[in-house]
Amino acid sequence: NWTMENFIETEIERIRSLIGPTGEVIGAVSGGVDSTVAAKLLNEAIGKRFHAIFVDNGVMRLNEPQQVHDTLTEHLGINLKVIDASDIFLGKLKGVTDPEKKRKIIGNTFIEIFEEESAKLDAESGGKIEYLLQGTLYPDVIESISFKGPSQTIKTHHNVGGLLENMKLKLIEPLRELFKDEVRALGTLLGIPDELVWRHPFPGPGIAIRILGEVTPSQVEIARKADYIFIEEIRKAGLYNKISQAFACLLPVKSVGVMGDQRTYEQVIALRAIETVDFMTADWFAFDAKFLKRVSGRIVNEVAGVARVVYDVTSKPPATVEWE
Ligand code: XMP
Repeated sequence: NWTMENFIETEIERIRSLIGPTGEVIGAVSGGVDSTVAAKLLNEAIGKRFHAIFVDNGVMRLNEPQQVHDTLTEHLGINLKVIDASDIFLGKLKGVTDPEKKRKIIGNTFIEIFEEESAKLDAESGGKIEYLLQGTLYPDVIESISFKGPSQTIKTHHNVGGLLENMKLKLIEPLRELFKDEVRALGTLLGIPDELVWRHPFPGPGIAIRILGEVTPSQVEIARKADYIFIEEIRKAGLYNKISQAFACLLPVKSVGVMGDQRTYEQVIALRAIETVDFMTADWFAFDAKFLKRVSGRIVNEVAGVARVVYDVTSKPPATVEWE
């Protein structure tokens, strides 16, 4: 009979016999549930012969790269290499305001850096890396079969899709028969902390598509701080698991405010929180007024550069979840 415990055992055996006694595997981790569960499964199967690579693209949330590092290494014992490529990504994003260009730059830069790092690791291991791990789920498999051509997508979603094209690696996809809820259950059994197992989805291009207009280091700092406060208050209010996704968006608009007896002229933060089953349609989340008052007060007081906070009350459709 099919149980998750059995699945883990058979899958680990299958991975071991596929890789052999000396083969090695690489895989990108993002800090999300799919790539972490896939990585932990490989770690259980072949230990240090699995190499996880985490690329810090400079547009993750506040403290996120550090958290990903700590959870994967200290908590899960995964062999992890962190590449701080923030300067490279932010350098390439300079002057870019078009959302699709931002996505392409981030996606392509990620692939370049990952390929470079995997070539290094392969050289260090004496050419033993034969496989690339991907955290593909069953719905991704179905989608790639049924949706042909880019005309179907409103936004190009760059995760680790294009990775294999130039690399002479075979693919290993241990989650390809599982649905999201099964991956979460698997993650829990593998000892992955609840906070990560139940994390809201976070887009590959990160807060670059939540900073409207140009992505500069100072804009990143403002967007990060505002987002951190919003999520912290959501957690404190016990609402995190009722909401499907929530974030702050930094608008390229200045607005007049008053702080003490000073006139200010600073930017606007838009807050977005949605409830959805499949992310194809979504409703905005109805916070109570007290909650919104608290968050807006904290953001304006604690985040330099913000003079005004607004709440997005648009459903999908007609609006998308992200602002870009
Ligand atoms: P939209 O904005 O299309 O978002 O309604 C639906 C879901 O997809 C996520 N999203 C992305 N995820 N790369 C990703 O990995 C992207 O470029 C991207 N754009 C949107 C969004 O966060 C939401 O969960």
